[in-house]
Amino acid sequence: MPDLRVNGRLVNVPDGVSVAAAVLIAGVTTFRRSVTGQPRGPLCGMGICFECRATIDGVPHQRTCQLPAQSGMEIQTDAPR
Ligand code: FES
Repeated sequence: MPDLRVNGRLVNVPDGVSVAAAVLIAGVTTFRRSVTGQPRGPLCGMGICFECRATIDGVPHQRTCQLPAQSGMEIQTDAPR
């Protein structure tokens, strides 16, 4: 069961979940913001819409629905803190 951080908060998630699922398990629904500031989150869940992007381990614009959650990940979204 991976332990990772979402916006600085330690979260334990089930094995095999995506980073997108881990962020949602952490209670965060705003992954990024549109150019006009509107909140955005996962839509397609299969790598097409790019709405689930977040910064993972310092690398911005990662599609969280396409990556498995791994222990030690640091995930940063544009959600209010
Ligand atoms: S939810 Fe659409 S690309 Fe990730």
